[in-house]
Amino acid sequence: MNVFIAGGTSGIGYSLAQHYLEKDFQVGVCGRDLTKIPQNNYQNLKTFEADVCDMDALVSAVKNFLPNKENLDLFINCAGSYAEDVARNISYEEAEEMLRTNILGTVNCFEVARNFMKDQKSGKIAVIASVSGILDYENSSLYTKTKRSVIQIADAYRRALKPFGISVTTIAPGYIDTQKLRDLNHNDLSKKPFLMDVKSATEIISQAIEERKKFIIFPRKMKWMMKSLALLPSSLLNIIMFKKAKWMKND
Ligand SMILES: NC(=O)c1ccc[n+]([C@@H]2O[C@H](COP(=O)([O-])OP(=O)(O)OC[C@H]3O[C@@H](n4cnc5c(N)ncnc54)[C@H](OP(=O)(O)O)[C@@H]3O)[C@@H](O)[C@H]2O)c1
Repeated sequence: MNVFIAGGTSGIGYSLAQHYLEKDFQVGVCGRDLTKIPQNNYQNLKTFEADVCDMDALVSAVKNFLPNKENLDLFINCAGSYAEDVARNISYEEAEEMLRTNILGTVNCFEVARNFMKDQKSGKIAVIASVSGILDYENSSLYTKTKRSVIQIADAYRRALKPFGISVTTIAPGYIDTQKLRDLNHNDLSKKPFLMDVKSATEIISQAIEERKKFIIFPRKMKWMMKSLALLPSSLLNIIMFKKAKWMKND
C-alpha cells in the first residue's frame, strides 16, 4: 500500500504516518518544514518539502514518491492552518495563510490525488476538516468558515470521483491533543472539552478511511453536543458560541 500524507510533518498527520509505517506500508509525507519530523528509523518513510498551495511542488512530491508509477492507494490531507481567533482579531498574514492552506490547499490535494488515481479506477482520499465546520452561524471564526468550506469541497469531490472508484472520507475531529494545539493555548488545554489524545484519534481516522466512511465526527460526546447545537436558531447559536469563546479566553 502506498500512502501519501500532505501535512505529515507533525501532529495528526505524522501520527497517521507512523500508524501506516507500523503496518509496513510505503508512506510519503510532505510539509513546508521537514525539520519538524521527529527522529525515526522508518525505512519506508519518504519525506518531501512541499507547500500544498504550490501545485507544482505537490505534484512533484507525489511523482517522486511513486517513481515507477506505482498505484497511489491513499492520499490524506492533514495540512491545515489554525490560530486562536476566538473573540479576537487575527493578523492579515494569519488570515491569508488560513484561507490559502485550508481552501486552496484542499482543492490542490484533491486535484493531485484524483489525477494520480483516476486511471487506477481505485483509491481513497481523506481530508481533515473540523467539528466546528458543522455549525452554521453568522459570527463563527474564519477558521470555522474555512473548515465548513473543506466539508463542502469534499462533498463535491466525493460525488465527482465516485464513478472512478475513488472514495472520499471527511474527518471532523473535536479537540485533539497535538503540540500545535498546546502551543496556541500556552500548554493549557483545560478548557478544551472532550479532548482526545492523538493516538486514539489516529485509530478512529484510519478505521473510517478503511471502511470508506463518507463523514465522521468524533469524539462521540463532541459529535452529539455539536449536533444538538446545530438544531438551534442561528441567533441563539451566535450568543452561545460568543460566550463560549469569551470563557475560553478568560475575558
Ligand atoms: N488538533 C486539533 O485539535 C484539531 C481539531 C480539529 C481539526 N484539526 C485539523 O487537523 C489538522 C492537523 O492539525 P494538528 O493539530 O495536527 O496541527 P499541526 O501539527 O500543525 O499539523 C499541521 C500539518 O500541516 C502542515 N502544513 C501546514 N500548512 C501547510 C502548507 N501550506 N503546506 C503543506 N503542509 C502544511 C504542517 O507542516 P509544516 O509546518 O511542515 O508545513 C503540519 O505537518 C489541521 O488541518 C487542523 O485544522 C485539528
